Amino acid sequence: MHSFINNLPKAELHIHIEGSLEPELMFQLAQRNQIELPFNSVEEIRSAYNFSNLQTFLDIYYQGANVLQHEQDFYDMTMAYLLRCKEESVIHSELFFDPQTHTDRGIEIGTVISGIDRALQDAKTQWGMSSGLILCFLRHLSADAAMDTLEQALPYKDKLIGVGLDSSELGHPPEKFTAVFERALAEGLLTVAHAGEEGPADYIWQALDLLKVSRIDHGVRCIEDETLVQRLIDEQIPLTVCPQSNLKLCVVDAMSQHNILQLMDRGVLVTTNSDDPAYFGGYLNKNYTALVDSLDMTSEQAVQLARNSFAASFVSDDIKADFNRRMDDYLTAHKL
Ligand code: ADE
Ligand code: ZN
Repeated sequence: MHSFINNLPKAELHIHIEGSLEPELMFQLAQRNQIELPFNSVEEIRSAYNFSNLQTFLDIYYQGANVLQHEQDFYDMTMAYLLRCKEESVIHSELFFDPQTHTDRGIEIGTVISGIDRALQDAKTQWGMSSGLILCFLRHLSADAAMDTLEQALPYKDKLIGVGLDSSELGHPPEKFTAVFERALAEGLLTVAHAGEEGPADYIWQALDLLKVSRIDHGVRCIEDETLVQRLIDEQIPLTVCPQSNLKLCVVDAMSQHNILQLMDRGVLVTTNSDDPAYFGGYLNKNYTALVDSLDMTSEQAVQLARNSFAASFVSDDIKADFNRRMDDYLTAHKL
């Protein structure tokens, strides 16, 4: 079953590229850029990765991003993730990045976008990797700062597919960002938002009705509102769920209690994703196999999750059909 999953064609729709920065590369970049890290070894970094909620993770995650200074650093981080996708049969990925984490340290937004985009283009040329880039606003910062960030990004609009909303959820409801999302939509960008990870179901309603999102990131707390679950089913609004992240950030007490398969069985368009793989102990396949190990996920359910990831992606219908054909070929080869 694990090897069936490892080779299963799939898409990833919820990965923060800064969350793919492994301690080894963090250390290497710190040395290359002569930046002091508050850790003496890779092991020390890894042992600091014990989180009790979203904020305890974010504090360490933003600190780790300080080693990223030059265009080549963003390239190296992104290419390391894309090579992992190649190994794990991830044929398409829509990546988040947090420009404010870098521009607030004096790094040009163009440096960030060019480094990430160059890696995406190289992966496309080298092995046909399909991808898209989504700019996330940090919700703990002001709405004005988000608008300013969008304006700085507009010259690079052709390299983006959409905008999103991440960082500390509680106390920073989607409604705070209505104006900047309206502007992004007017510029032809799609919208997504983290909602219902730690925050209440009401934040999911706000993301849908005020930010006009095409997908909800996480969304697992929708289960607390039956009317909302029914809407997600009726309108087939995708949720990009991240099981291993939910476990590590104590959104669930145990993987065996995760509601992802329950939501899928009810008809919600759920997908599985890694969120911040370097911090949560695994890339996309680990998130699939965790569901096999703790929730007895069947191969049919794994295939459904992968097909959902194609359906929920922001590619054209033609490309979706191509992804599904690749899945059909894989299943035929496995006599399924
Ligand atoms: N930024 C990176 N990972 C995140 C998460 N799981 N929730 C909110 N913001 C994030
Ligand atoms: Zn996330």
